[in-house]
Amino acid sequence: MVDSRLSQRILLFSLCFIFSFIIIIFVIKRSSLIENTKNNIDSIISSTSCKHISIDELDQWFHSKTWNEIPKIIHQTWKNKTLRQRQARWRQTWCEQYTGWYYHLWTDDENDLFVQTKFPWFYSTYKQLSPAILRVDSVRYLYMLYYGGLYIDLDYESIRRVDELFNNKYVVLSLINYSFQSMNSVPNSWIASRPNHPLWTYILYRIMLLWSRVTDQERNEFWNGKAEFFTGPQSLFEGLMFYLHSNQHTDQTLDQLFGNRENQKSDSIFEVANITFLGPKLINAYDWMNGIGADVCSAEKPTFDENKCKDIVKPIYAITYWSHSYGHGHENDAKYLGNKRIR
Ligand SMILES: *[C@@H]1O[C@H](CO)[C@@H](O)[C@H](O)[C@H]1NC(C)=O
Ligand SMILES: *[C@@H]1O[C@H](CO)[C@@H](O)[C@H](O)[C@H]1NC(C)=O
Ligand SMILES: *[C@@H]1O[C@H](CO)[C@@H](O)[C@H](O)[C@H]1NC(C)=O
Repeated sequence: MVDSRLSQRILLFSLCFIFSFIIIIFVIKRSSLIENTKNNIDSIISSTSCKHISIDELDQWFHSKTWNEIPKIIHQTWKNKTLRQRQARWRQTWCEQYTGWYYHLWTDDENDLFVQTKFPWFYSTYKQLSPAILRVDSVRYLYMLYYGGLYIDLDYESIRRVDELFNNKYVVLSLINYSFQSMNSVPNSWIASRPNHPLWTYILYRIMLLWSRVTDQERNEFWNGKAEFFTGPQSLFEGLMFYLHSNQHTDQTLDQLFGNRENQKSDSIFEVANITFLGPKLINAYDWMNGIGADVCSAEKPTFDENKCKDIVKPIYAITYWSHSYGHGHENDAKYLGNKRIR
């Protein structure tokens, strides 16, 4: 009697023990399964977007090969790592689509160190350039000269990947418009290049030369349109013409170099001396000079509406809303380019 109750208890105890053991094993297995799925998701996330890298990682990768193509690195720059809401959203459109590309957002401090260490011959000019837009304009030519890759202003939205067009290319520029009289028709807001291309040195030397010649009063007046001339699209245009004329041994205009005007369609692609030009509709569908769609396309307007804008100008690869974040009082207005409409 006693014996049988004891053996019953032992049996019950053993069963309980085995049962708990099975439960424990099950729980451990399950949690490691969840852990694995989490790891899988992480690797899926990184293979479905660009990869943000530090400057050290960028240098390591960049110097690990010789470059016979445009390096897959997107450069953007802002004062510090805190973007305005819309800027962050527009940046995301590039990162989501450019899988297999690296990305770096350069801050003012990083730019300063970059120029000082990599381009000592330009640094004394760089330090003096003021207001900030003159430095921000200049440093993008230095990214192109040193690393190459793709530089994009923070008010560009990607519609779809354009890098299929980068195969066997040296420098890729985008047009706003085929009327070159204003010299603003080749923007410096979206530029791509292999490293060490001589085009960029023409532009940088022009900036150094002009800066060394102007008076202090003229330096103080460089805002109000002169930034475009001094370091902006007009400096790109003039550097480009120096480069093309000396390489092609010609004094032809860009129009003439592109061939006859019938070729100049909004989605044409031209190549002159290994510089590729993408027609206006491809990257810069909203042309701030002709003003079509300006009410809804200009980020500076209270009526700004990205979706309405895209319906009007029908961008193909990308669009910019010309936000002028460094000018017109926007630079220190933390509310500018927030998500809420501001009157
Ligand atoms: C970036 O600068 C803005 C103002 O210019 C400031 O409000 C913000 O705190 C800064 N962010 C960081 C991370 O320093
Ligand atoms: C264009 O690239 C080819 C191939 O590298 C080279 O032979 C040619 O000289 C280049 N042309 C110009 C004008 O740079
Ligand atoms: C270029 O701009 C001019 C006015 O500045 C405009 O008349 C013309 O239609 C524009 N061309 C294209 C291709 O957008």
